[in-house]
Amino acid sequence: MSRYPAPALTRRAFIASAAASATGAMFPFLPASPATAAQHEISLRAAIGRVRLVPPGEMAAWLYNGTVPGPEIRLRQGERLRVAVDNALPEETTIHWHGVRVPNAMDGVPNLTQKPIGAGESFVYEFDATDAGTFWYHPHHKSFEQVARGLYGPLIIEELEPVRVDRDVTWMLGDWRLTKSGAISEDFGNRHDIHHNGRVGNTVTINGRVPDGFAVRKGERIRLRLINAATARIFGLDFAGHEPVVIALDGQPVAPHAPDNGLVVLGPAMRVDLIIDMNGSAGSRAAVTDRFYEGLEFRLVDLVYDATPLRERAPDWPLALPANPLPEPDVKGAPRNEVVFTGGMMGEMVARDMGESMGRGASGGKMGHTNSMMGGMMRMMTSSAAWFINGVAADEASHDMKPMLALAKDRSHVIAMTNATAWHHPIHLHGHSFRVISRNGQPTRHQEWQDTVLVSPREKVEIAFVADNPGDWMFHCHVLEHQAGGMMAVFRVA
Ligand code: C2O
Ligand code: CU
Repeated sequence: MSRYPAPALTRRAFIASAAASATGAMFPFLPASPATAAQHEISLRAAIGRVRLVPPGEMAAWLYNGTVPGPEIRLRQGERLRVAVDNALPEETTIHWHGVRVPNAMDGVPNLTQKPIGAGESFVYEFDATDAGTFWYHPHHKSFEQVARGLYGPLIIEELEPVRVDRDVTWMLGDWRLTKSGAISEDFGNRHDIHHNGRVGNTVTINGRVPDGFAVRKGERIRLRLINAATARIFGLDFAGHEPVVIALDGQPVAPHAPDNGLVVLGPAMRVDLIIDMNGSAGSRAAVTDRFYEGLEFRLVDLVYDATPLRERAPDWPLALPANPLPEPDVKGAPRNEVVFTGGMMGEMVARDMGESMGRGASGGKMGHTNSMMGGMMRMMTSSAAWFINGVAADEASHDMKPMLALAKDRSHVIAMTNATAWHHPIHLHGHSFRVISRNGQPTRHQEWQDTVLVSPREKVEIAFVADNPGDWMFHCHVLEHQAGGMMAVFRVA
């Protein structure tokens, strides 16, 4: 894999840009209409523009309101959000409000929940902010390309009584594949990326910049909202001597706890809210390192301590967030639905080990091992079907997405997933948050609510939720190249 370019942004420039975005200049809220004071309105224009990820170099990218990330949409729980979208791109698009429990017609899935927004057309999304938390928005049309070109932004729904901190900071992590000349590599959706671990890039950004330093003060307490907007890269962040406390996952509160092995892991689309007490000494620097891929560790950013402490010791303010109004699933009484993932490079071997059959061609039965291997190879060479859910590779472009599962409305359901592949998959369900109840048969410690769960190779994960949101909902891998390679399905709640 390629090496990361040396950060070219000076500490001063980064701090200045962070300060500029903190003033709110980037957030073009329109005045709320007088009749509904609790309504937030914003317009988003998707268009081609230019960005400086690694100044001074400039490159073409696809942007919301001219910036990457797009404007941070911020509103309070219980308010209503209205977003007028203008599509100034040369092709169709939609916007999906990742993790927000919206009505089906507002979910932004082309040809499933709405007609795609054509070039030059517009569309208005409108929904209530039922849950507080850290969410994000991105296109759901050719997302493996549109997200990779820069279309994504944070959506923050504030609690009515947020936890007390000195600063509330969002880091939206982006991953770019740049050419030697500093342009975006145009090899979107190539066969290799689809069959392996997706489009892992060579340039990682925080809020659209390759950062050098992030200014902090000794004794300061920060709520850090991490959002992984990469199409494929998984992060495992090590905060060097700091002791981050996880207070929310995918926007949903969780019992405050230290991350496993001290690493904050985020698959694509996942969010983690941390409380970090800045316990370093005044005037020092500490590196935040990404250690997810063994042998490919790299320094993401330095925490740069001001010469003057804010306070000598960390505050003892409470850490727990108020719960969101999620319906509690009845796990014991719930029907269990088996969902098996197969496919990808080396998938035949894993599927055989785990006693699962691969999709279509090979699942038919009597073929011996060699023939089935041949079948898999043939399929890979002749079609874009690379990944299978219960033996089916979806074809988004055909607009023929028949529901794979029918879930009775207002009932509890367990989805028992088996990853019979050699790769990680962040699995996302639309319209609902679910509890992750077990991994490889062991109950999870926190029974955490998520909307995207990272499933390791050969792992079995069970999730449970009340299907209280009617409609046809996408269930897919958020490695966007895997999704493009067929790893998606529709669950019908009725
Ligand atoms: Cu973040 Cu189906 O998407
Ligand atoms: Cu995947």
